[in-house]
Amino acid sequence: MSQDSSDPKNSAPQNEASSSTSKAWGGRFSEATDAFVQRFTASVDFDQRMYLQDIEGSIAHATMLAKVGVLSDDEKQQIYAGLETVRQDIESGKFAWSVELEDVHMNIESALTEKIGITGKKLHTGRSRNDQVATDIRLYVRDAIDSIGKELTRLQEGLLSVAEREASTIMPGFTHLQTAQPVTFGHHLMAWFEMLSRDYDRFMDCRKRLNQSPLGAAALAGTTYPIDRHYTAELLGFDQPTANSLDSVSDRDFAIEFCAAASTLLMHLSRASEELILWTSAQFDFIDLPDRFCTGSSIMPQKKNPDVPELVRGKTGRVYGDLFSLLTLMKSQPLAYNKDNQEDKEPLFDTIDTVTDCLRAFADMVPAITAKKDSMYDAAKRGFSTATDLADYLVRKGIPFRDSHEIVGKSVAYGIEQKKDLSEMSLEELQQFSDTIQQDVFDVLTLEGSVAARNHIGGTAPEQVKKAVATAKQVLASRD
Ligand code: ARG
Repeated sequence: MSQDSSDPKNSAPQNEASSSTSKAWGGRFSEATDAFVQRFTASVDFDQRMYLQDIEGSIAHATMLAKVGVLSDDEKQQIYAGLETVRQDIESGKFAWSVELEDVHMNIESALTEKIGITGKKLHTGRSRNDQVATDIRLYVRDAIDSIGKELTRLQEGLLSVAEREASTIMPGFTHLQTAQPVTFGHHLMAWFEMLSRDYDRFMDCRKRLNQSPLGAAALAGTTYPIDRHYTAELLGFDQPTANSLDSVSDRDFAIEFCAAASTLLMHLSRASEELILWTSAQFDFIDLPDRFCTGSSIMPQKKNPDVPELVRGKTGRVYGDLFSLLTLMKSQPLAYNKDNQEDKEPLFDTIDTVTDCLRAFADMVPAITAKKDSMYDAAKRGFSTATDLADYLVRKGIPFRDSHEIVGKSVAYGIEQKKDLSEMSLEELQQFSDTIQQDVFDVLTLEGSVAARNHIGGTAPEQVKKAVATAKQVLASRD
């Protein structure tokens, strides 16, 4: 969090103290909290964004308390109505968040009590902020996963539309960033699609594991009230209550898993970004990105910079950093809750925001990619990308692969000298290297022949790309 010295709460005198009686836990204290300690220990500046989940959790808790007879129906109704006005105050900007009240939980509870009086003080029966915060974060991450899943699907739909359009567009495929074999542009984009499908599954897998209700674990050991944990779990859309109260309030492995899935996604987006950046350069000149996704240079008038993919590539680093913060935060923590855990939120929220923005940028940008087909085609021709096809041709005619490799190597050396692609040589020229070569060689030396020949599942042939797109559409349609 940035420490702005112009912010009055940061420049408050060190010995200024708040009244001990204003604290929800002030009973056993004889001295008010030091003003700096108050600010140092507070999380309200960053956890207030969980207000909806906090209210949702409190409604479920109050509903359960009324069901088991700890609260009356009338008290429950008062709590519902009070929380609803608190929500409205927050959303209309009227709510005054107070650092003195430490976090989102105590701010909301205190506002509720101000609104409905003594009944508000009963809400916390059989609950602790420890199970409350563990519930809120799970709900928050679950909501984040659901919206990330939708945005990932939108990006994948965009990829499919371009892949379908470019199923037969030929470009060079690379290994070591050197021209290797011709591939179709649609096939290349479908590789990105596959990476993103695994990312989607990783998020959904994380969702499955986090979707358990910690409510009822209370501070660490459970509670003496006759609570119904299955009921609160059901009310909040959790699959079941967590199995161990100590574990429920202390572990943040779901946040780590989420950030790990996010890091892998961003790693993939950074790879795609890198390719987009290369492809828009004058040296590659494979694609065009619309002006609205690019920026200019203040000094070089000719520049059109691919800032959006560059930023996505750069933001990958901060998401890795968030993952490492969380891993380090949890390292060696003894059971059960420790205040350290309050530090889980900023990295987690930063990852959620970063992933959301990067996905949006990509989902908007990808359908607008235009392929510069001629340029891609020329590049595929320049790098002797059908050399393997010639070698395979000779093998089919009975020459051992190692010998055919040698023959093709010599043909390529000749081509470099003569500045001719293999397909541009005459039959006589090719026959200098092997008299096994006949007229039918030209069927395999063309770029079209080369890609069409890789016609098996997972291969680059246009026919296979179209099939892959059709299968992928079914995958997307099966997501809810
Ligand atoms: N703001 C705290 C957090 O984010 C809430 C839990 C506080 N619990 C406690 N025992 N002090 O972790």
